[in-house]
Amino acid sequence: MTARATKRDRLPRYYKDALAKKQKEFWDYEKLIVKWGKLDDYEVTQKIGRGKYSEVFTGIHCPTNKKCVIKILKPVKKKKIKREIKILQNVSEGPNVVKLLDVLRDPLTKTPCLVFEHINNTDWKTLYPKLALSDIKFYLYQVLKALDYSHSQGIMHRDVKPHNVMIDHEKREVRLIDWGLAEFYHPLTEYNVRVASRHYKGPELLVDDTLYDYALDMWSLGCMLAGITFRKEPFFAGADNVDQLYKIAKVLGTDLLEEYLDAYDLELELEVEQRLGKLPRKQWSSFKTKENAERCTPEALELIDKMLRYDPAARILPKEAMSHAYFEEVRKQK
Ligand SMILES: Nc1ncnc2c1ncn2[C@@H]1O[C@H](COP(=O)(O)OP(=O)(O)O)[C@@H](O)[C@H]1O
Ligand SMILES: [Mg+2]
Repeated sequence: MTARATKRDRLPRYYKDALAKKQKEFWDYEKLIVKWGKLDDYEVTQKIGRGKYSEVFTGIHCPTNKKCVIKILKPVKKKKIKREIKILQNVSEGPNVVKLLDVLRDPLTKTPCLVFEHINNTDWKTLYPKLALSDIKFYLYQVLKALDYSHSQGIMHRDVKPHNVMIDHEKREVRLIDWGLAEFYHPLTEYNVRVASRHYKGPELLVDDTLYDYALDMWSLGCMLAGITFRKEPFFAGADNVDQLYKIAKVLGTDLLEEYLDAYDLELELEVEQRLGKLPRKQWSSFKTKENAERCTPEALELIDKMLRYDPAARILPKEAMSHAYFEEVRKQK
């Protein structure tokens, strides 16, 4: 019964023309000429993290004696480095986005470093289990603000996950970090599906649907909300990309997957189709346990349901999510 999709169905509901309103230099990151700061102004103090693309240290900006974070990039394509810098320059002043303070380069190794404000983050493995429901709502709302802002600027983050959401629980501050996989959204452009971390990859990435958009970030955030709500992180714990889709289908069922694929003329590889077989859809309430019952309010389950949809066009977007009943107490606080 599902009608064939037209091109219009492949556009996000809003911010589709965000970049059309900007000057070319806003998004033409390859043309960026980086103004390098003074390396000698900084001192590295302690290693605090390591990702796929970087080593991260705390540091001191000596002239001001201020603490900062120095992200030393691993050797990757110049183009990717320029993209991360340009995107950070564009979104860094936005709400709950990590502030980029400086960009440095070692004159000998030519290794680029990004300098950020330091966030006194509590590791999510320690923090998430002890949060009150009101904290979860507050922090999630802050991430939605960051996402709504970046989407309004024509930028998709493409790597939303707990490791990239810094929370200073004492100050009740949230920062969305790691814009290394972020990309400019140009309407009806095909994007690389090899983005995001496996457990947070949207179905579009797993079925090779290259015409994706900002809604990808809402899937990833939906995985976080489900993980925190049901005290099961990661919520979809796939062992590889095919298994990831299988874990999703075990919850959402294969009927809705088929509906999504049919609507946009997408096809699964035979091997994947056989691996999935036919799976029923589960009720969100079936994930409720004694341990997580307090977090599983009807509003929470409804919001999770609206974020975790196969079809990106059917997913709730940040602005809409921010007006969802789940966040009523957060909105009242303001
Ligand atoms: N501004 C910051 N404040 C505190 N910790 C940070 C900050 N930036 C990065 N980190 C730590 O370093 C890790 C890796 O940084 P990230 O920017 O995510 O790099 P990668 O692209 O390699 O994943 C993060 O997961 C976090 O633990
Ligand atoms: Mg990271």
